[in-house]
Amino acid sequence: MPHPFETQRAGANGPLLLRDFHLIDLLSHFDRERIPERVVHAKGGGAHGFYRTTNPLDDLCLAEIFSAEGQECPITVRFSTVGGESGSHDHARDPRGFSIKFRTQEGNWDLVQNNTPVFFIRDPAKFPHLIHTQKRHPASHLGSGDDSTMFWEYFCQNPESVHQVMYTFGDRGIPDSWRHMHGYSGHTFKLVNKQGSWVYCQVHVRSKQGTGFLTQEESTRRSPDANQKDLYQAIERGDFPQWDLCVQTMTPTQAEELWETQRINVFDLTHCWPQGQFPLRKVGELCLNENVKNYFAEIEQIAFSPSHLIPGIEPSADPVLQGRLFSYPDTHRHRLGANYQQLPVNAPRPGYHMANFQRDGPMAFYNQGSRANYLSSIEPISFKERKTNLDEAHGHFVGKAVSFLSEIRPEDFNQPRVLWERVFDDAAKERFINNVAGHMSTCTEKEIIRRQIGIFREVSDDLATRLEKATGIEGYPGIGGLVFNGCHNGMAKDSALRAAN
Ligand code: HEM
Repeated sequence: MPHPFETQRAGANGPLLLRDFHLIDLLSHFDRERIPERVVHAKGGGAHGFYRTTNPLDDLCLAEIFSAEGQECPITVRFSTVGGESGSHDHARDPRGFSIKFRTQEGNWDLVQNNTPVFFIRDPAKFPHLIHTQKRHPASHLGSGDDSTMFWEYFCQNPESVHQVMYTFGDRGIPDSWRHMHGYSGHTFKLVNKQGSWVYCQVHVRSKQGTGFLTQEESTRRSPDANQKDLYQAIERGDFPQWDLCVQTMTPTQAEELWETQRINVFDLTHCWPQGQFPLRKVGELCLNENVKNYFAEIEQIAFSPSHLIPGIEPSADPVLQGRLFSYPDTHRHRLGANYQQLPVNAPRPGYHMANFQRDGPMAFYNQGSRANYLSSIEPISFKERKTNLDEAHGHFVGKAVSFLSEIRPEDFNQPRVLWERVFDDAAKERFINNVAGHMSTCTEKEIIRRQIGIFREVSDDLATRLEKATGIEGYPGIGGLVFNGCHNGMAKDSALRAAN
């Protein structure tokens, strides 16, 4: 056996030998060490732990995991930033991903959430466009820190993004650690109970450590891997981070009333549900108590999808959620391969085996033995019949194919206004203005800034005026006179403009 550091050659100065299998095998595997990084959320880290139900939800949901106090399952959590590449800075100003894989007795449930209750879009067709503008420029390859022109161009053409923009440029845009942030499903899901009735639901994961943030200034003094280090070291010293799992629920009738009275559509991810009306109900607790042994196998290869659901939890008609149901398994097949579900970190919990009708393909290492690979009546398989509500009201979807009418309405600015007027204190407002103005300083088109200030003016005149002062650019008096390339302007001030929109 040659030494691992030694190649074989023909004589002291001769060429290398093809028979040196060790060298050839080593180099050819090394040449293939990289897999594609995630197209978004590429930089991240995580840990293992467990979930435990403290307050059963069996009146609303038939999932066994929520059926009784003390029901437990192993979990893996991955935290991330959105826009940067795999080696980018943990403290970038960006939403944070907070994904949880619950390995329940009934299969894996993935909660693929962010640290903000809303998102930039309400039509999934916009997602790739949005993300392209948050990444590097196709020619200069510069990120938005050096050239924020396309970053702001997207937002000034798509004003429904303003609520999430307020969060991102507010204190929540740079959490001081992964341990100090909440997670939100953002989307509306459905909970189905044993009787087959259902309610709409939003999930909130509340940090027991509290929340914290870094100023723009402070963030530049941290190491690029500061969040990774913080989580790893906390778990190593036995300081296990914990979160409460809570739900907000709403009946279909309440959903209709919410639309009638407040123009909040439960399928619109740019709005959140008022907590005063739909209070949080605690269901259980999560704890992270085990660091991974191998980052690549346990974090890089983990594959989350909002479509990985268990009986009792179903998707709603939220269009962005519907888009995500497709996109994640699709990207996993590209990033990890067709058999990504067989990888140990994605497989069902130990003692439970995958049982579906998928067979063979590259790297099929749990190929389900002699189990019938079709729905056989000779060798019947047992499966739990899933209660669905396909024929309930709010489950009837009929109509002609239509384009998504993404219309900007005055109500789109109500919740961002609450953030500005009631949630941000004076110091937070000051930081917000500095964060936005600082970021806009590398935007080369004044018109983009004028438009964005016009959008902010619909949130608050005070906000817009302060931003005008900070940027030295006079913005539009509102959006009444603007035409958007990404949506209809339902606030256009006259009929000619309305037609142009
Ligand atoms: C990751 C697509 C919206 C949260 C990803 C990935 C894709 C994707 C392709 C990479 C997955 C991988 O390679 O493993 C989309 C599309 C969206 C959308 C098409 C809208 C149409 C959202 C929203 C949220 C979200 C609204 C939060 C509420 C996440 C998280 C990850 C992720 C947390 C990282 C998962 C991980 O840790 O592996 N998304 N996304 N995404 N997305 Fe989305």
